[in-house]
Amino acid sequence: MATVILGICGSIAAYKAADIASRLVQKGHEVHCVCTPTALRFVTPLTLMTLSRHPVISSFDEETSGWVPQHIALAQKADLFAVAPASAHTMACFARGLAPNVLTSLYLANRAPVLIFPAMNTLMWEHPATQENVQILTQRGDRIIGPAEEGTLACGSTGKGRLLEVDAIVSHISALL
Ligand SMILES: Cc1cc2nc3c(=O)[nH]c(=O)nc-3n(C[C@H](O)[C@H](O)[C@H](O)COP(=O)(O)O)c2cc1C
Repeated sequence: MATVILGICGSIAAYKAADIASRLVQKGHEVHCVCTPTALRFVTPLTLMTLSRHPVISSFDEETSGWVPQHIALAQKADLFAVAPASAHTMACFARGLAPNVLTSLYLANRAPVLIFPAMNTLMWEHPATQENVQILTQRGDRIIGPAEEGTLACGSTGKGRLLEVDAIVSHISALL
């Protein structure tokens, strides 16, 4: 059994994280969902907590359970740091070392392998800023998997940008554990 941090960003695909968490728990892993503040506009902590069987972490204000900051304690016990869906904004924070929220702070404190599953509009994905961030993260050793080459996007258009299928994400995570 491994300890998995599942980061969740503000994307329309955030609801799929509930399924990912559930599938990993069924495989016997300890899953801790860490949401950006925006992710909570798309998915509820109650759903994620119930399926992951652990409280959801989304704010520094909740860090009252011990003297070691919760995000640091979690980073120290993680076997894998996965983010699905990963937004353009959070990937930019990761690339540049910005830590405005718990998920981005955890990224800096984490030393476990990092798996990033992006999801965004095609134009956002193809923007040089995003591609530059992808390059920085890849060179750092983080694994960026996806987005899907084709699919219908939240904006109604089709193209590259959708989150990979849940099955594929769970397989990639399982393969690394
Ligand atoms: C309906 C809706 C869907 C969105 N989907 C995405 C998305 O799939 N990917 C993305 O990068 N941003 C998406 N955004 C924009 C992000 O929510 C926004 O950039 C936010 O600042 C991301 O914050 P976070 O990275 O801290 O979660 C979406 C916004 C809305 C209103």
